[in-house]
Amino acid sequence: MTRMIAGRFNIPKPNQKIDSVPGDYGIPILGHTLKFLLNPRGSVKEIYKKYGEVSKVSIFYNKAIVFLGPDATQEILRDTNNNFSAKLAWAEFFGDLAVRSLTMMDFDEHKLNRRLMQSAFKKQAINSYLPSMTQVMEEDSRDWAELENPKAFPLIKEMLLNAAAEVFLGLDIKKDVAQVNEHFVNILNSSVAIVRFPFPGNKMWKALRGKAFLIDFFGKIAKEKRANPGTDMFSRMCEAKDEDGNTLSNEAIVDHMIFMLVAAHDTNTATATNMLYAIAKHPEWQEKMRKEVLAIDKETMTYDDLSRMPSTELVFKETLRFYTPLPVIPRRSINECTIRDVTVPANTMIWIIPDFCHFMEEYWTTPETFDPMRFAPQREEHKKHAFAWHPFGGGAHMCMGMHFADMQIKLIMHTLLRKYRFSLPENHNEKYQFFPIPKPKDDLPICIECI
Ligand code: HEM
Repeated sequence: MTRMIAGRFNIPKPNQKIDSVPGDYGIPILGHTLKFLLNPRGSVKEIYKKYGEVSKVSIFYNKAIVFLGPDATQEILRDTNNNFSAKLAWAEFFGDLAVRSLTMMDFDEHKLNRRLMQSAFKKQAINSYLPSMTQVMEEDSRDWAELENPKAFPLIKEMLLNAAAEVFLGLDIKKDVAQVNEHFVNILNSSVAIVRFPFPGNKMWKALRGKAFLIDFFGKIAKEKRANPGTDMFSRMCEAKDEDGNTLSNEAIVDHMIFMLVAAHDTNTATATNMLYAIAKHPEWQEKMRKEVLAIDKETMTYDDLSRMPSTELVFKETLRFYTPLPVIPRRSINECTIRDVTVPANTMIWIIPDFCHFMEEYWTTPETFDPMRFAPQREEHKKHAFAWHPFGGGAHMCMGMHFADMQIKLIMHTLLRKYRFSLPENHNEKYQFFPIPKPKDDLPICIECI
């Protein structure tokens, strides 16, 4: 608990004086928060219709400026004049839950840490994670067809947690999975808690206990890895050294690992669940994907085999457009600056919304239709603008695990589609949630039969 409190980021409250920006602040106190949580896509579309690509809002008790569309998004994420801080923005969002991860760093400090972490994400490293991850996935999914009333989300969640224990931590922590899982879920659920301070039993309180547990748990692992390194991601971070001889401290590695595990886990669990949802709804795509995984005809794929899954790649991209795991990305201005002809005061919260760009009719043909072919070489709708499709963000903070995610999702599909056919139960529920993770609200009950 000590470090959890000492780890608090002492960050000034964001500027609330943005009256000169077009827009409105929604209802008293809650502003746009409820509207946004209840109907994220609809409420953002409404704002765009009313005010265009720049407008003020009031959300999660803070006034902010929303920038919509790929031009504004590009200016903010590329940030050629160092006007925007990821650290100040995410600190506001996570509060006491923040750890000193890459998203909580800016500019030179960020560059140094990111460079040190890079070796864990290179092709050679990713290739080395494949065999153990394949083994975990095979074992975990062995009996899926025999389960009574299976739900895709918890099945994938557990499978990815086990895979992460192996690949990220290099440990068999199966006995701790339930506990780790519970703490992850608590941390995640707190991200959109309306009450932002802890009191015993509430979401923030549970999440802070989760953070303290993970710091302690990973701290012990860091010591073991220094003494006895393996080929897992944790060990690679312990051994990382740049050309000037800089290394990461144990404390830094613990913070990076906590963030990475959470970031990787939620995004990939959501993506794999949403992909199963999509291919259960669109069996023609499921068959195309099955054909290509059967053609690979190998128990364990190598990195090079991943390029032999073109249909899976198209479905992956369309799933990331249609159900983007991080629908909103925050920043905070450091200096006063002008973006899209609007003066942005210093220290102001900024929201950019990938999910909005992913549905703009200016860039996408019938955006409300799930259509993987829009990414195929003959159409390439995502190339109309560098930021029309940006599920992994962009600029200095662009997702570091992008290729890892691609590998993991293809591996999941390779494992599952060689064995099973997925379909939706007759009475399936169409309700979908965007927060805290975009996924079917009922966790996706699914019919699983052996092929
Ligand atoms: C489909 C899966 C994923 C999606 C959609 C996704 C999305 C994102 C986005 C949008 C950002 C940028 C946040 C910002 O600009 O503030 C980000 C950052 C990051 N992601 Fe991912 N992510 C995914 C998977 C992963 C995985 C598997 C890992 C690790 C293995 C990972 C590690 C990270 C890290 C370390 C950062 C921080 C980068 C930085 O600040 O320099 N992500 N991710």
